[in-house]
Amino acid sequence: MTMSKIQPELDLAIFGRAPAFAEKVHVGRPNVGNRERLLKRINDMLDRNWLTNDGPYVQQLEKQIAEFVGVRHCVAMCNGTVALEIAIRALGLTGEVLVPSFTFVATAHALQWQEITPVFCDIDARTHTIDPAQIEKMITPRTSGIIGVHTWGRGCDVEALEAIARRRSLHLLFDAAHAFACWHKGKPIGGFGRCEIFSFHATKFFNSFEGGAVATNDDSLAEKMRLMRNFGFRGNDNVIYIGTNGKMTEVCAAMGLTSLESVDEFVDINRRNYHAYRRGLDGIQGLTVMAYDESERTNYQYIVIEVDEHEAGLGRDELVQVLTAENVLARRYFFPGCHRMEPYRSYFPHASLMLPETEKLCRRVMVLPNGTSVDEKAISQIVQLMQTAVSNGPAVRDQLAGVESSIHIRGAR
Ligand SMILES: Cc1ncc(COP(=O)(O)O)c(C=O)c1O
Repeated sequence: MTMSKIQPELDLAIFGRAPAFAEKVHVGRPNVGNRERLLKRINDMLDRNWLTNDGPYVQQLEKQIAEFVGVRHCVAMCNGTVALEIAIRALGLTGEVLVPSFTFVATAHALQWQEITPVFCDIDARTHTIDPAQIEKMITPRTSGIIGVHTWGRGCDVEALEAIARRRSLHLLFDAAHAFACWHKGKPIGGFGRCEIFSFHATKFFNSFEGGAVATNDDSLAEKMRLMRNFGFRGNDNVIYIGTNGKMTEVCAAMGLTSLESVDEFVDINRRNYHAYRRGLDGIQGLTVMAYDESERTNYQYIVIEVDEHEAGLGRDELVQVLTAENVLARRYFFPGCHRMEPYRSYFPHASLMLPETEKLCRRVMVLPNGTSVDEKAISQIVQLMQTAVSNGPAVRDQLAGVESSIHIRGAR
C-alpha cells in the first residue's frame, strides 16, 4: 500500500481556496487619461471628418512629442514594429544587424521581414541591455548596424555603443519601445543614435491604442520616413520611393494627445507602486526587484523580479503558476529569447552558445502588474502571496507537481 503525502493547507489558491483576486490583474493594463477630453477630441474629429492621412491630431502629437523628447522630428506611425521597419529601411541597413536576443521579437522581425539577418548579441547581466563588450566579436564584413534596446526604460550603454559604431562605421539606432518619458545621463531618450523608435501600444506606459513613432534629429532621414510611411508619395501621383502604409490614424493620435496630458500622473502612480513592491519584496530570500536609477527620470513601468531558484526554493515558473492561480497574471519576459523562436532557432540552432547571460535571464525574470489599475492594497496582497509561496517552497513545489497544470503562460511584450 502506498501512503499518500499529506500537504499542509497553505493560504494559496493552488491548495484549493478561491483566487485572491476575483478579476484578473494584468501586466500592462492600459493607462487611460482623461476620458472626457478624449471623447471631446473624437467628437471634434468626427465633425471635421478627417480620420487619417496626416490629420491635425497627428501633426499636433508629432510636434508635442518632438518637444517632449527634445528632438527636431517625430514621425508618428501606426505601431512600433512598422516604425522600426521603416527606420531600418530609410537608413539603408543591409546584410546583418546586431541586436539583443533579450527583447520583444518585433525587434528581430523588423529586420528579418526585410531579409536582413538579426545577429543576436548577449546582454550585460547587470543592465539587461546589449553588452558592448560582446559586440566587436560579432561584427563581420556584412554588418551594417546595431540596434540597442532600452529594456525596461533603462538606457543602454549609449556612449560605448556610439564609440563602436563610429569606429566600425556602423549605423546605430535604438528600440525605445519601453522608454517613453525615460532619460539617460540627464537627457531624454529619443535623441540618441541616428534615430529612436517608440511604441505606443495599449500595454505601454504611454499609449495611443496602437501606435509608434521615430524620433530623430536628422532632417533628411525624417523626410524619407514620412514619404515611406505613405507609400512613397511626394505629392499627388508622384511616388519616389518604395513605401508602405505606416500612417497613424487620427483617433490614435487623439488618444496619444490625451495620454500625453497625463504622463506625470502615470509616472507618479508607477513610482508609488514600484516603491510599495520594493518595501514588500526586498527582504524575500531569492527574489531581487530590479532597481531603477532614481537619479534619472524614468517611467517605472516594469516591476521586474529576478528569481534565484536555489535561494528561493522555487523557480520563476512555479512562482508565476502560483500567482496565475490567484488571478495575478505575472509574465515571463522575454521568454524564451528571440534566438529560441522561429525562424531564428532554425536559422541559428547554436545561438545559445554565444548567449549565456540571455539564457540565464530568460529563465529568471518575471514581471508583476503595474500601472494606474494597480493600487497599494493589491500590491500588499501580491507581496503576501509571494512571501507565503517562498516561505513554503517544498510544499508549494509538491502541490504544483501534483496538480496537472492547466495554466497557459503566454509570451510577453
Ligand atoms: C522592445 C519592443 N520592441 C518593439 C515592440 C513593438 O511595438 P508595437 O507593439 O507597437 O508594434 C515592442 C512592443 O510591443 C517592444 O516591447
